[in-house]
Amino acid sequence: MSLPLAGRRVLVSAGPTFEDIDPVRFIGNRSSGKMGIAVAAAAQALGAEVVLVAGPVHVATPDGVRRIDVRSAAQMREAVLGELPADVYIGAAAVADFTPRSVSGHKLKKTAGSDTLVLELVRTPDILAEVATHPRRPSLVVGFAAETHDVEHYARGKLANKKLDLIAANLVGAAEGGFERDDNALTVYWAGGERTLGPAAKTLVAAQLVALVAERLDG
Ligand code: C5P
Repeated sequence: MSLPLAGRRVLVSAGPTFEDIDPVRFIGNRSSGKMGIAVAAAAQALGAEVVLVAGPVHVATPDGVRRIDVRSAAQMREAVLGELPADVYIGAAAVADFTPRSVSGHKLKKTAGSDTLVLELVRTPDILAEVATHPRRPSLVVGFAAETHDVEHYARGKLANKKLDLIAANLVGAAEGGFERDDNALTVYWAGGERTLGPAAKTLVAAQLVALVAERLDG
Protein backbone atom coordinates (compact mmCIF):
# COMPACT_ATOMS: atom_id res chain seq x y z
CA MET A 1 0.00 0.00 0.00
CA SER A 2 1.42 3.39 -0.93
CA LEU A 3 1.68 6.24 1.55
CA PRO A 4 -1.21 8.77 1.51
CA LEU A 5 0.94 11.65 0.19
CA ALA A 6 3.14 9.64 -2.21
CA GLY A 7 3.65 11.59 -5.43
CA ARG A 8 2.45 14.85 -3.85
CA ARG A 9 4.53 17.98 -3.55
CA VAL A 10 4.00 19.85 -0.28
CA LEU A 11 5.34 23.35 0.34
CA VAL A 12 5.54 24.51 3.97
CA SER A 13 6.57 27.86 5.43
CA ALA A 14 7.77 28.03 9.03
CA GLY A 15 9.31 30.29 11.63
CA PRO A 16 9.33 34.05 12.04
CA THR A 17 10.55 36.67 9.62
CA PHE A 18 13.08 39.32 10.60
CA GLU A 19 12.59 42.78 9.15
CA ASP A 20 15.80 44.79 9.20
CA ILE A 21 15.88 48.31 10.61
CA ASP A 22 19.62 48.92 10.20
CA PRO A 23 22.74 46.70 9.92
CA VAL A 24 22.42 45.52 13.56
CA ARG A 25 18.71 45.71 14.43
CA PHE A 26 15.54 44.08 13.23
CA ILE A 27 11.88 43.56 14.10
CA GLY A 28 11.11 39.89 14.79
CA ASN A 29 8.63 37.73 16.66
CA ARG A 30 8.58 34.77 19.06
CA SER A 31 7.79 32.02 16.55
CA SER A 32 10.14 29.05 17.11
CA GLY A 33 9.29 27.35 13.81
CA LYS A 34 8.66 24.08 15.67
CA MET A 35 5.09 23.65 14.47
CA GLY A 36 5.84 24.29 10.80
CA ILE A 37 8.92 22.08 10.88
CA ALA A 38 6.91 19.30 12.56
CA VAL A 39 4.34 19.68 9.76
CA ALA A 40 7.11 19.36 7.14
CA ALA A 41 8.43 16.21 8.86
CA ALA A 42 4.93 14.72 9.08
CA ALA A 43 4.25 15.36 5.37
CA GLN A 44 7.57 13.74 4.47
CA ALA A 45 6.71 10.73 6.64
CA LEU A 46 3.44 10.32 4.69
CA GLY A 47 5.42 10.11 1.45
CA ALA A 48 5.32 13.69 0.13
CA GLU A 49 8.17 15.54 -1.56
CA VAL A 50 8.53 18.41 0.93
CA VAL A 51 10.04 21.86 0.50
CA LEU A 52 10.36 23.89 3.68
CA VAL A 53 10.83 27.65 3.45
CA ALA A 54 12.12 28.67 6.88
CA GLY A 55 12.66 32.03 8.49
CA PRO A 56 15.45 32.34 11.10
CA VAL A 57 14.96 29.29 13.36
CA HIS A 58 17.12 27.05 15.50
CA VAL A 59 15.45 23.76 14.64
CA ALA A 60 17.10 20.95 12.65
CA THR A 61 15.82 20.19 9.16
CA PRO A 62 13.86 16.91 9.12
CA ASP A 63 15.44 14.06 7.12
CA GLY A 64 14.41 14.03 3.50
CA VAL A 65 13.10 17.61 3.54
CA ARG A 66 14.60 20.27 1.28
CA ARG A 67 14.96 23.53 3.20
CA ILE A 68 15.32 27.06 1.85
CA ASP A 69 16.41 29.61 4.47
CA VAL A 70 15.11 33.15 4.27
CA ARG A 71 15.11 36.16 6.57
CA SER A 72 12.45 38.72 5.61
CA ALA A 73 8.81 38.51 4.53
CA ALA A 74 9.84 39.70 1.05
CA GLN A 75 12.42 36.90 0.78
CA MET A 76 9.90 34.35 2.07
CA ARG A 77 7.39 35.47 -0.56
CA GLU A 78 9.95 35.11 -3.32
CA ALA A 79 11.05 31.65 -2.18
CA VAL A 80 7.48 30.37 -1.75
CA LEU A 81 6.23 31.66 -5.11
CA GLY A 82 9.39 30.34 -6.76
CA GLU A 83 8.59 26.82 -5.51
CA LEU A 84 5.11 26.69 -7.11
CA PRO A 85 3.54 24.57 -8.46
CA ALA A 86 2.79 22.33 -5.49
CA ASP A 87 -0.18 20.15 -4.51
CA VAL A 88 -0.37 21.64 -1.04
CA TYR A 89 0.78 24.88 0.58
CA ILE A 90 0.82 25.04 4.37
CA GLY A 91 1.58 28.55 5.60
CA ALA A 92 2.77 27.98 9.15
CA ALA A 93 5.19 30.91 9.24
CA ALA A 94 4.58 33.89 11.51
CA VAL A 95 5.19 36.42 8.75
CA ALA A 96 5.72 39.99 9.92
CA ASP A 97 2.72 42.12 9.02
CA PHE A 98 4.85 45.28 8.80
CA THR A 99 8.37 46.07 7.68
CA PRO A 100 10.39 49.33 7.89
CA ARG A 101 9.76 51.52 4.83
CA SER A 102 13.52 51.75 4.34
CA VAL A 103 16.54 50.01 5.85
CA SER A 104 19.18 52.39 7.15
CA GLY A 105 22.59 51.68 5.66
CA HIS A 106 24.28 52.68 8.92
CA LYS A 107 23.56 51.99 12.59
CA LEU A 108 20.92 54.43 13.82
CA LYS A 109 22.41 56.68 16.50
CA LYS A 110 20.87 58.21 19.59
CA THR A 111 20.59 61.92 18.98
CA ALA A 112 21.20 64.52 21.67
CA GLY A 113 18.02 66.31 22.61
CA SER A 114 15.62 63.63 21.34
CA ASP A 115 14.07 60.86 23.45
CA THR A 116 12.06 59.29 20.68
CA LEU A 117 12.64 57.52 17.40
CA VAL A 118 9.90 57.20 14.80
CA LEU A 119 10.06 54.17 12.52
CA GLU A 120 7.76 54.17 9.54
CA LEU A 121 6.41 50.69 8.81
CA VAL A 122 4.61 49.48 5.70
CA ARG A 123 2.47 46.36 5.19
CA THR A 124 4.20 43.23 3.93
CA PRO A 125 2.61 41.19 1.14
CA ASP A 126 0.20 38.49 2.40
CA ILE A 127 2.00 35.41 1.07
CA LEU A 128 -0.82 33.03 1.98
CA ALA A 129 -3.50 35.08 0.21
CA GLU A 130 -1.23 35.44 -2.81
CA VAL A 131 -0.64 31.67 -3.01
CA ALA A 132 -4.39 31.05 -2.67
CA THR A 133 -5.19 33.29 -5.65
CA HIS A 134 -2.13 32.42 -7.75
CA PRO A 135 -2.58 31.08 -11.31
CA ARG A 136 -0.64 28.02 -10.16
CA ARG A 137 -2.70 27.68 -6.97
CA PRO A 138 -2.06 24.43 -5.08
CA SER A 139 -5.10 22.11 -4.78
CA LEU A 140 -5.09 22.68 -1.05
CA VAL A 141 -4.04 25.90 0.69
CA VAL A 142 -3.80 25.78 4.47
CA GLY A 143 -3.33 28.75 6.79
CA PHE A 144 -2.71 29.19 10.48
CA ALA A 145 -4.43 31.64 12.77
CA ALA A 146 -3.12 32.46 16.23
CA GLU A 147 -5.86 34.21 18.15
CA THR A 148 -6.25 35.45 21.70
CA HIS A 149 -10.10 35.37 21.65
CA ASP A 150 -13.13 34.58 19.43
CA VAL A 151 -10.99 31.95 17.69
CA GLU A 152 -13.66 30.45 15.42
CA HIS A 153 -15.00 33.84 14.33
CA TYR A 154 -11.59 35.20 13.30
CA ALA A 155 -10.37 31.89 11.84
CA ARG A 156 -13.45 31.50 9.64
CA GLY A 157 -13.06 35.13 8.55
CA LYS A 158 -9.51 34.40 7.38
CA LEU A 159 -10.61 31.15 5.71
CA ALA A 160 -13.06 33.14 3.56
CA ASN A 161 -11.07 36.36 3.05
CA LYS A 162 -7.82 34.65 2.09
CA LYS A 163 -9.66 32.01 -0.01
CA LEU A 164 -8.19 29.07 1.93
CA ASP A 165 -9.27 25.44 2.00
CA LEU A 166 -8.34 24.84 5.65
CA ILE A 167 -7.32 27.02 8.56
CA ALA A 168 -5.63 25.69 11.69
CA ALA A 169 -6.42 27.95 14.62
CA ASN A 170 -4.95 28.06 18.06
CA LEU A 171 -5.58 30.10 21.12
CA VAL A 172 -2.45 31.97 22.16
CA GLY A 173 -1.78 33.73 25.41
CA ALA A 174 -0.71 32.87 28.94
CA ALA A 175 -0.75 29.11 29.61
CA GLU A 176 -2.08 28.32 26.14
CA GLY A 177 -0.39 26.47 23.30
CA GLY A 178 1.38 28.24 20.50
CA PHE A 179 4.64 30.12 20.31
CA GLU A 180 7.77 28.91 22.14
CA ARG A 181 6.13 25.70 23.38
CA ASP A 182 6.52 22.01 22.56
CA ASP A 183 2.82 21.20 22.75
CA ASN A 184 -0.16 22.67 20.97
CA ALA A 185 -3.87 22.29 20.35
CA LEU A 186 -5.48 23.27 17.07
CA THR A 187 -8.99 23.50 15.76
CA VAL A 188 -9.03 23.15 12.01
CA TYR A 189 -11.92 24.77 10.15
CA TRP A 190 -13.08 24.33 6.58
CA ALA A 191 -16.29 25.23 4.75
CA GLY A 192 -18.82 23.00 6.44
CA GLY A 193 -16.62 21.30 8.99
CA GLU A 194 -14.14 21.44 11.82
CA ARG A 195 -11.88 19.09 13.79
CA THR A 196 -9.97 19.60 17.02
CA LEU A 197 -6.41 18.18 17.19
CA GLY A 198 -4.61 17.78 20.51
CA PRO A 199 -3.70 19.13 22.97
CA ALA A 200 -0.58 17.07 22.44
CA ALA A 201 3.07 17.38 21.44
CA LYS A 202 3.50 19.57 18.34
CA THR A 203 4.88 16.54 16.48
CA LEU A 204 1.67 14.58 17.14
CA VAL A 205 -0.62 17.51 16.33
CA ALA A 206 1.36 18.06 13.11
CA ALA A 207 0.90 14.39 12.14
CA GLN A 208 -2.86 14.68 12.74
CA LEU A 209 -3.01 17.89 10.70
CA VAL A 210 -1.14 16.35 7.77
CA ALA A 211 -3.41 13.26 7.91
CA LEU A 212 -6.40 15.63 7.65
CA VAL A 213 -4.73 17.42 4.72
CA ALA A 214 -4.31 14.06 2.93
CA GLU A 215 -7.97 13.25 3.62
CA ARG A 216 -9.20 16.61 2.25
CA LEU A 217 -6.92 16.31 -0.77
CA ASP A 218 -8.55 13.00 -1.69
CA GLY A 219 -12.07 14.09 -0.77
O1 C5P B 1 -3.86 37.46 9.04
P1 C5P B 1 -2.90 36.65 9.86
O2 C5P B 1 -1.51 37.19 9.86
O3 C5P B 1 -3.39 36.31 11.23
O4 C5P B 1 -2.88 35.25 9.08
C1 C5P B 1 -2.02 34.24 9.47
C2 C5P B 1 -1.75 33.34 8.29
O5 C5P B 1 -1.38 34.13 7.16
C3 C5P B 1 -0.60 32.39 8.52
O6 C5P B 1 -0.87 31.20 7.81
C4 C5P B 1 0.60 33.15 7.93
O7 C5P B 1 1.60 32.27 7.50
C5 C5P B 1 -0.04 33.89 6.77
N1 C5P B 1 0.56 35.20 6.44
C6 C5P B 1 1.28 35.36 5.26
N2 C5P B 1 1.82 36.58 4.93
C7 C5P B 1 1.66 37.65 5.75
C8 C5P B 1 0.93 37.50 6.96
C9 C5P B 1 0.40 36.27 7.28
O8 C5P B 1 1.43 34.38 4.51
N3 C5P B 1 2.19 38.81 5.41
